[in-house]
Amino acid sequence: MMDQIDHIMSVMDAAFDPYWGERWTRRQVLDALVMPNTGAVVIDEKGREILPEHQIRSAGFILTRSAADEEELLLIAVHPDFRGKGLGRRLIALLTANARERGIAKIFLEMRANNPAEKLYRKMGFEPIGRRKNYYRTENGEQLDAITFALSNQ
Ligand SMILES: CC(C)(COP(=O)(O)OP(=O)(O)OC[C@H]1O[C@@H](n2cnc3c(N)ncnc32)[C@H](O)[C@@H]1OP(=O)(O)O)[C@@H](O)C(=O)NCCC(=O)NCCS
Repeated sequence: MMDQIDHIMSVMDAAFDPYWGERWTRRQVLDALVMPNTGAVVIDEKGREILPEHQIRSAGFILTRSAADEEELLLIAVHPDFRGKGLGRRLIALLTANARERGIAKIFLEMRANNPAEKLYRKMGFEPIGRRKNYYRTENGEQLDAITFALSNQ
């Protein structure tokens, strides 16, 4: 029986290049999801939300955390088999709609400098608001800045 963690990990394992060190382990996902302010949405290849008990293949997921009137996008991924079809945009649209319903006016995310996902974030209205020098470290010790993006969710 697949559960939500299995759905997330099947995308996770295929989506992240180990070089950047961005992939979360199963334990990290489990630890995050037991927190009451952390949530996940998993979608199928048509962009429909998959509930934990659905026995169908997952195509993408988004992990988020809320604090007071702010929401943070912790991690987003689409399986390489299903990229370039708008599923990344769909996941962010689900997040912004859900946050708006709860009256959340700002969404933040942090991204390593030069991640191609920047194009997706900018398309969805995120704008860079800050940079942390040498925040990430790659597999071979290369240091990369983190860029903070914010979206005004009006
Ligand atoms: C980033 C990611 C989620 C995008 O998923 P996707 O389903 O392919 O995104 P979409 O199809 O919705 O693309 C939205 C737009 O962003 C652009 N885009 C998305 N990913 C891109 C990439 N890797 N390179 C260049 N452009 C990209 C697309 O061209 C698209 O523009 P369009 O609407 O003009 O076609 C996916 O590439 C991924 O899982 N990457 C690995 C994990 C990752 O780095 N996550 C982000 C950091 S946590």
